Amino acid sequence: MRLAQVLFTQGFGARRVCAGLVAAGAVRIGGRVIDDPGEEVATEGLVFEVDGVAWSFHLPAVVMLHKPAGYECSQKPRHHPSVMSLLPAPLRQRGVQAVGRLDEDTTGLLLFTDDGQLIHRLTSPKHHVPKVYQVVAKHPVSEEQLQWLRSGVVLDDDPAPVAALAAERTGERTLALTLAEGRYHQVKRMLAAVGNRCERLHRSNFGALALPADLPAGGWLWVEQPI
Ligand code: URA
Repeated sequence: MRLAQVLFTQGFGARRVCAGLVAAGAVRIGGRVIDDPGEEVATEGLVFEVDGVAWSFHLPAVVMLHKPAGYECSQKPRHHPSVMSLLPAPLRQRGVQAVGRLDEDTTGLLLFTDDGQLIHRLTSPKHHVPKVYQVVAKHPVSEEQLQWLRSGVVLDDDPAPVAALAAERTGERTLALTLAEGRYHQVKRMLAAVGNRCERLHRSNFGALALPADLPAGGWLWVEQPI
């Protein structure tokens, strides 16, 4: 792929801006400045620098963010900054979108991609991608509540019950809940429906992905494996 095109696909601006960056000597590969926008480069495993900042080539982009509390998933946030502000400019520029949403006060694994088909596959109710939530509840979690969550509870917007794929107690007031769908405030409403209350919520897993213990809140990384 031509070097200017590489920059364009990776979110470094309009085609003419990318060609200008290369021509101005801002781009290095393997420590060597390449100032010909038309130079052909192999994209497999490519790492390049723009103004001294290293970037690795990914097409499409799939990244995971450790969402901190206090950020909104909306494109037009109303009360808190957007999760998009935690991503570097090239990812925002190439149009990555959050895969589903987490509430402002929920922490944990949030995916972003610019691959529309992947967003569809991961969010479509037909595909049942399991998500694991770690819940801190207000009251002790009883075996009866766990059973109820597993067998299905009725939420206020739909008469059809929603059941957790799994519900395991992890402590007196904590549980891990695995859900296949992602309805509005689903975990909080399920906990309320069984007579408890969700005090803190963290998503630890999404499909085959687990949030790495060493990824700090606010940090992101490329997802290389299947989801
Ligand atoms: N369920 C909720 O209630 N909130 C979230 O952020 C995610 C799942």
